[in-house]
Amino acid sequence: METMVNNIAIEKAKTSKIHEVDFDNLSFGSVYTDHMLVCDYKNGEWEAPKIVPYQPITLDPSAKIFHYGQSIFEGMKAYKDDDGKVFLFRPLENFKRLNKSAERLAIPQLPESFFMDGLHALIQLESDWIPTNAGSSLYIRPFIFASGTGFHASPANEYKFIIACAPSGSYFSGKVKVLIEETYSRAANGGVGYAKAGGNYAGQFYPTKLAADKGYQQVIWTDDNAHEYIEEAGAMNVFVRINDTLMTAPTNDRILDGITRKSILDIAKDEGIKTEVRKISVHELVEAAKNGSLKEMFGAGTAAVVSPISGFGYHGEEYELPELKDSYASMLKKRITDIQYNRAEDKFGWRYPVE
Ligand SMILES: Cc1ncc(COP(=O)(O)O)c(C=O)c1O
Repeated sequence: METMVNNIAIEKAKTSKIHEVDFDNLSFGSVYTDHMLVCDYKNGEWEAPKIVPYQPITLDPSAKIFHYGQSIFEGMKAYKDDDGKVFLFRPLENFKRLNKSAERLAIPQLPESFFMDGLHALIQLESDWIPTNAGSSLYIRPFIFASGTGFHASPANEYKFIIACAPSGSYFSGKVKVLIEETYSRAANGGVGYAKAGGNYAGQFYPTKLAADKGYQQVIWTDDNAHEYIEEAGAMNVFVRINDTLMTAPTNDRILDGITRKSILDIAKDEGIKTEVRKISVHELVEAAKNGSLKEMFGAGTAAVVSPISGFGYHGEEYELPELKDSYASMLKKRITDIQYNRAEDKFGWRYPVE
């Protein structure tokens, strides 16, 4: 039976899988909730989104997603506070970035109301799935891909927008050691690096596997031109603290404009920390590590939140970072998660209640 909630048709699952899930031992993004939002683009327009039971989808082997990788996604989270109230964090930013990615991949623009109303209705429906254990949340994966068919290398004429959700624990289980990349590139000038395009991640898997074989959890990408400046990590923007200055690379067409990154910058400024958004050279980083002025490095992203980096490898050398008691990383992580979980005043207006 179908019901309508805020213009969204909902077909409920007959049974729930929620009792099969061990909420005390959640990994990241590997179990999925009972429902998903689906919205089709056909005949030149997006059709009304609907919520249906979570289920596999059937595609023609000639669907262009398989051949030309026309696919984009977003990553966001829903949080539950101690009173059971549910919040999203700056969801409109994810919507805007999805359409920015869509433009670059020649995917039709999605109407804001389809994204926001669909997301709201889905999270309301799945609110029992939002974990409350420390560090857990409901990871939300909106994505669009080319379902239209044809071997001609051109944009598809049909697309699917789906939102699926996964109750999730931490993204990293231990310390994060990174390798500064000297050979491969994640993105190039004029390319798709700033878009959250599926292929950007596929292209990282091989170099990241090579790094993992050497004991590193992540690669720090450097500029494709000369591998001289640090850019970002697999699914995180990167922050560096030299003495008491917190710095991160400026966004450009090779770097994803992270929502956590810009929130961290605002919080750091609010804390009176000196921040610099500027190019950071590998040379500068190595020198700072050698002379002891490199105090911290951390990654920032929705999935990984704020993840301290314990050390980095470069040119066959290992550089360890000190373990600080009062690190910027732990303070910033506390401030951003206190806002996300409704434990602190939301002076920036970032929380979005799902009521
Ligand atoms: C390549 C890349 N950089 C940075 C980020 C961090 O972005 P955000 O803070 O919006 O999650 C992500 C994750 O979305 C990412 O995939």
